[in-house]
Amino acid sequence: MVLVLGIESSCDETAAALVDGEGRIVAQRIASQDAEHAPYGGVVPEIAARAHAERLAPMIEGVLADAGVDLADCDAIAATAGPGLIGGVMVGLVSAKALAMASDTPLIAVNHLEGHALSPRLADSSIGFPYALLLVSGGHCQILRVDGVGQYKRLATTIDDALGEAFDKTAKILGLGFPGGPAVERVAKDGDPSAVPLPRPMVGSGEPHFSFAGLKSAVLRAYESGNHTASDLAASFQQAAVDCVVDRLRIALESMDDVETLVVAGGVAANATVRAALEGLAADHGMRFAAPPPALCTDNAAMIAWAGVERLGQSDPLDIAARPRWPL
Ligand code: KG4
Ligand code: ZN
Repeated sequence: MVLVLGIESSCDETAAALVDGEGRIVAQRIASQDAEHAPYGGVVPEIAARAHAERLAPMIEGVLADAGVDLADCDAIAATAGPGLIGGVMVGLVSAKALAMASDTPLIAVNHLEGHALSPRLADSSIGFPYALLLVSGGHCQILRVDGVGQYKRLATTIDDALGEAFDKTAKILGLGFPGGPAVERVAKDGDPSAVPLPRPMVGSGEPHFSFAGLKSAVLRAYESGNHTASDLAASFQQAAVDCVVDRLRIALESMDDVETLVVAGGVAANATVRAALEGLAADHGMRFAAPPPALCTDNAAMIAWAGVERLGQSDPLDIAARPRWPL
């Protein structure tokens, strides 16, 4: 049985997982640092790196024990090598290198974005290439054409904020705390999505790129007017964001006639309104729609282990560097 150990530490989730060749998650543990970062209203890189350093080793021992295996049973150790907060990435990558050296197991340095990009195939092995991918997380907002492992064509990106960042900033404006995306979604359930007139930046543009800075500023102005409830503001923001995403994807899909599957991945893919809108868009285009279960949308190590399974046979040198920036 193929078995890959995955390690994730690029932002504020410390995670380890064991995934087999069929995409079964044999064991996984994940520790969120929400409580540590909440007082600051965002992720503090030094606090994140320290928390990863404290938690990772016992977590790796934990997943091996949960599965009743040891490192020698693993075919590869896959670790996020970037992009992300460099201190955290180094903690995970250095740990993986040490374990790879000690156990004479191949190291696979995984691009975190590739982890997200391939995560739908971990959740559902029937998803084949090519697919159109909306990758929406706290740091990234892209539309990609995925033709195979390592074959990514970026069709659109954001000219300012990522979609997750826009959710986080809206949550901050509304005083909903951190992390922002799930809080905005929760509060929006009680609001009217058409209550607050908000802009839809880039909608109508012939290029499929995103922009969310203007939307966030409009939320701030509407909030400061004192005329709206937090629920209406959250619901209206969420609707405006979803309208932007659907319009941008519509443009991008024009150049992907031969693609039959639309996939969404990354933390914002956990949002039910986003998922429902994309499902509708896919149906309009006669496309199949796929999204990983919410727990595999936000950062996790199972997707990193799975990227390792997809890349099995490859091995990276033990002096490979951690990369704060690493485009797909
Ligand atoms: O993929 P992820 O866990 O980390 C990065 O690689 O960035 O994504 C985190 C982002 C955050 O901005 C968070 O607010 C957003 O995903 N997010 C959500 C939801 N859950 C997480 N945004 C909207 N609705 C959600 N339910
Ligand atoms: Zn991520």
